[in-house]
Amino acid sequence: MASIVRLQNVTKDYGQGQALTHALRGVNLELEAGEFTAMAGPSGSGKSTLLNIIGGLDRPTAGKVEVDGRELENLSKTELGLLRRDRLGFIFQSYNLIPVLTAIENAEYVLMLQGVETVERRERVRQVLKEVGLEGLENRYPRQLSGGQQQRVAIARAIVSEPALVLADEPTANVDSETGKALLDLMRELNEEKGVTFFFSTHEEAVMRRARRLLELRDGVIFNDETNNNGDRTHG
Ligand SMILES: Nc1ncnc2c1ncn2[C@@H]1O[C@H](COP(=O)(O)OP(=O)(O)OP(=O)(O)O)[C@@H](O)[C@H]1O
Ligand SMILES: [Mg+2]
Repeated sequence: MASIVRLQNVTKDYGQGQALTHALRGVNLELEAGEFTAMAGPSGSGKSTLLNIIGGLDRPTAGKVEVDGRELENLSKTELGLLRRDRLGFIFQSYNLIPVLTAIENAEYVLMLQGVETVERRERVRQVLKEVGLEGLENRYPRQLSGGQQQRVAIARAIVSEPALVLADEPTANVDSETGKALLDLMRELNEEKGVTFFFSTHEEAVMRRARRLLELRDGVIFNDETNNNGDRTHG
C-alpha cells in the first residue's frame, strides 16, 4: 500500500520567549491509502496543528512532511496550491461554506477551479450531493440548511474532486450526537465504497470507536496508536 502521509520528527512551535508553545514535539506518522483514522487528545494537544501541517495550511518548525509522495517543504506556493486543490479535501468543525453560494455551488467550487466544464461538473456534483443525502436541497443556501446538512455539503465539497486524502478537524463537533453518528456513517461508507482516505480529529468517544485506527495525541506527541480492523460498524 502506498503512503499518503509520512511525517518524520515533526515539531511546531508557536510564539517565542514567555509565549513559546511547543504544539508538536516530534511526531512520526505514516498513513496509507484507504485508511479511516481518527485522532483523539485533550484540548491543546496539537490535533488541529497536525492536520493543518499535513494539509499545507501551516508549516512545521522542523521535520519532514510528505503528502502524496511530495515533500511539502520542496514545493513552490503554486505547486502546494495545486496539491491541495487536486489531492486533498478539507472538512472543518464550523463547515466553512460560502454563505452566498447554494449547496450545489459550494460543492462544485473546486471542480470549477479545476476547469471541469459546466455540464460534467453539475452532473458530478448532483451525484455526490445525492450520495451524501442532500437530493432535493441542492439549491438551498447554507442558512436554509441544518448544521448536519451543512456539514454534508462540506463533505460533498471535500470528496467531489476525488482527493487522495480528506482531512477533517472535529467534523461532528457542531452537531447533535444523532447527526454526528449519521455523518460518521456517511464518511465510513465513502471510505468503504469509494475508497476515500479519511484522517479526522475528534473529542467524542462514539466517533473514536468508529475509526479503524485511533491515534492519541498528548502534549504534541502521539502516545498511542491502535488498530481496530473493523471499527465499530454499528450505530450507538
Ligand atoms: N496560531 C497559534 N498561535 C499560538 N499558539 C497556537 C496557535 N495555534 C495553536 N496554538 C497552541 O498550540 C497548542 C496546540 O493547539 P491545537 O489547536 O493544535 O490543539 P487541539 O488539539 O486542536 O485543541 P482543541 O481540541 O481545543 O481543538 C495549544 O497550546 C495552542 O494554544
Ligand atoms: Mg483543534
